[in-house]
Amino acid sequence: MKKSFTVLIALLVFSTFSQAQKFPGLALTPPMGWNSWNTFATNINEQIIKDMADTFVEEGLADAGYNYIVIDDGWMAKERDNLGFLVPDKIKFPNGMKVVSDYVHSKGLKFGIYNCAGAETCGGYPGSRGHEYQDAISYASWGVDYLKYDWCNTENLNAKGAYETMRDAIYSAGRPMVFSMCEWGDNQPWEWGENVGHLWRTTGDISACWDCEEHHGTWSSWGVLKIVDMRKDIRKAAGPGHWNDPDMMEIGNGMTVNEDRGHFALWSMMAAPLIMGNDLRKASQETLAILTNADVIAVDQDSLGIQGFVYKTQDSIEIWAKPLANDDWAICFLNRTETSKPLNFNWKENTINDDVFGYEVSFKDKHFAIRDLFTKKDCGTTNEILKAEIPKHDVLMVRLSKLKK
Ligand code: GLA
Repeated sequence: MKKSFTVLIALLVFSTFSQAQKFPGLALTPPMGWNSWNTFATNINEQIIKDMADTFVEEGLADAGYNYIVIDDGWMAKERDNLGFLVPDKIKFPNGMKVVSDYVHSKGLKFGIYNCAGAETCGGYPGSRGHEYQDAISYASWGVDYLKYDWCNTENLNAKGAYETMRDAIYSAGRPMVFSMCEWGDNQPWEWGENVGHLWRTTGDISACWDCEEHHGTWSSWGVLKIVDMRKDIRKAAGPGHWNDPDMMEIGNGMTVNEDRGHFALWSMMAAPLIMGNDLRKASQETLAILTNADVIAVDQDSLGIQGFVYKTQDSIEIWAKPLANDDWAICFLNRTETSKPLNFNWKENTINDDVFGYEVSFKDKHFAIRDLFTKKDCGTTNEILKAEIPKHDVLMVRLSKLKK
């Protein structure tokens, strides 16, 4: 009797502790996928999601590493059912979410969904507040692999506590899901997020522009450079299983090809989640070439999982560095300005020091081969001065690999 009582207590203690965690072993490299919001807002439906899954496979996006298809806000009916369960919108998703999820899975992909910690989502649909465990059970039964969890209408909720509740609800529902926390960086999730979610938004919403601020009354959305500049000091929080998320990408949504290239390069230098936000069915060959660039993706997905940083600015060109596995480095020369800029970079005069993660490279005594990751051409070694012309709003992104001798 005493023994079984001890076992019972041990089980209770174990189950209490075993629930207080996020699913381990997920998002060991930044998640890659597609999200409906940037293009479709709440105008989504079953066919659009199925089309995206088809396009992932047909256009080589799945082969490039993209696997999550995430339905953002607007998939639900405005009311829960009379037991309090979420109900998909009958017109947009007439066959329910399991059918969509099964279709996505049948293509070898993973399925994601959206809700919000508040009483209502940002779009005014039923939020999860007070229904967290119930909603997690619905998601698990539909085969959801990824939950994006927003922060509208949360009144005075404590962010860490609210996200922990949903984390625990997901864990107790028993299906591994990447937990994407979307509270825009308002409550410094990089300080407490590592044990709560797998990625957290660092900033407000992105806009498809290079360096703009778009005003929406009480809030603004931000261009690529604005977002990049906002949170340069939080890179130490990122690593395998827990990423800073500067928002879904706007590649293919109206910026120039140069800007799209710069956007993709910067997200990869930052080890950001690569979540596409364009209508993949209409993507141009140029857009697809950027999105499927295996060399750039390899920088983003590098197993060290280190978020890159600005090393310095030289002749108006901002120089980014990212330590990679096997002593490689990614270097990105970014021309933020309004005119084309010549680059003359003498490696030998440079020592790059990452004092946050403890990496350093001096080009006086270490020699590297250089590969241009967009033209796919080798461009000499670090023993020579690197000369290039970088168009406005564009990058030269290279990978340095150690020369044998
Ligand atoms: C917030 C999020 C966006 C999107 C919308 C949906 O603004 O930051 O990414 O999910 O809500 O309403």
